[in-house]
Amino acid sequence: MKYNIKNKKLAPQGNKRIDWAEEKMPVLRLIRRRFKKDKSLKNRRIGCCLHVTTETANLARTLKAAGAHVYLTASNPLSTQDDAAAALAMDGIGVFAQHGESRTEYYRNLSQVLKNKPEILIDDGADLISTAHKRRLQGISGGTEETTTGVIRLKQMERDNVLRFPIVAVNDSLTKYLFDNRYGTGQSTIDGILRATNILISGSNFVVAGYGWCGRGLAMRAKGMGAQVIVTEVDPVKALEARMDGYTVMPMADAAKIGDLFITVTGDINVIRKEHMLKMKDGAIVGNSGHFDVEIDKPGLKKITKKRRLIRDSCEEHVLRNGRKLYILAQGRLVNLAAAEGHPAMVMDMSFANQALAVEYIFNNPKLEKRVYNLPLKIDENIARLKLKSMGITIDKLTPEQKQYLSSWKMGT
Ligand code: ADE
Repeated sequence: MKYNIKNKKLAPQGNKRIDWAEEKMPVLRLIRRRFKKDKSLKNRRIGCCLHVTTETANLARTLKAAGAHVYLTASNPLSTQDDAAAALAMDGIGVFAQHGESRTEYYRNLSQVLKNKPEILIDDGADLISTAHKRRLQGISGGTEETTTGVIRLKQMERDNVLRFPIVAVNDSLTKYLFDNRYGTGQSTIDGILRATNILISGSNFVVAGYGWCGRGLAMRAKGMGAQVIVTEVDPVKALEARMDGYTVMPMADAAKIGDLFITVTGDINVIRKEHMLKMKDGAIVGNSGHFDVEIDKPGLKKITKKRRLIRDSCEEHVLRNGRKLYILAQGRLVNLAAAEGHPAMVMDMSFANQALAVEYIFNNPKLEKRVYNLPLKIDENIARLKLKSMGITIDKLTPEQKQYLSSWKMGT
């Protein structure tokens, strides 16, 4: 199997870290055990564009255990863990990813995966699927999408009638977004900020741009650490929810003047612009945890920067023309994966259980239309049941009388 990795000598270290993650992924382990027995993906070719982490390594191993040929490229140039990549490549998985790769290398690696004629594409951000579409590649039975940003892009493709194969929006499973987006992003973003800066969060004005599931998780964790949390939003319902969850809500133009730390999690472009950065306090820290590095206006920042230096790993000091200093985390790339290790395995267990079952679902349902689907609720609920079981938690069952009550419209008080 061909590969493009940084250093194969890192494989033993990668293997140990992958094993550590595996311990925390009991649901995926169960699926792997079944896949290994059934060999349900025998000789199928699966192309993945995911963050190359120890958790992703466990998904790749699961697909391989089912008999699939797996090809993997990175969904972000800064999130690849080179030791995990090396371990997978030495294990017969076609890995094309190196931490710190350029944009050109990023797309070259993506092409390497597509050259292997994958039948299913597992994507995180929709770059692999959109490239396959631009090249009008044949022989693809379906794709899955891991993240909100990717699902938004794919739904636009569905709307424009250009989808060439069915998609399962894994992000939209309940056992994905309610946990990965909220608790995963909440914790791993704080982790990234702390590794990059070692600041004290307590007592800071912590601005969260965007109150989707990721924003909610981040605001909750920042508040838990003693920050004054300010939320900025464009959606009136989400803004109201943020207020009623106990946060201060205001426009970015006002938040810019008082924030100590700013994190964007909106999925949209230029959320923090030049005019905001010029208002920020001396020493303000700015980062992003959304999928693409477009939420902070980097070209605008360049125009108002006089001098810059990397002051710590993943933390760049910008001296602005107005004399103030701003600190930009991880070049505006998602700070939780670029400055830390991404979401913990415990939560990726559910996300990647969804991915593995989504691949199986596509192969088992060849009549799916060229649309964006959710995984059936039964599969979603089963993942929740298995996760609860792995945590030693049991829950109640409806009594026959309760079932009857819920299915009848005749009974009142
Ligand atoms: N996305 C967020 N965290 C991740 C992780 N640990 N592995 C793969 N994808 C992720």
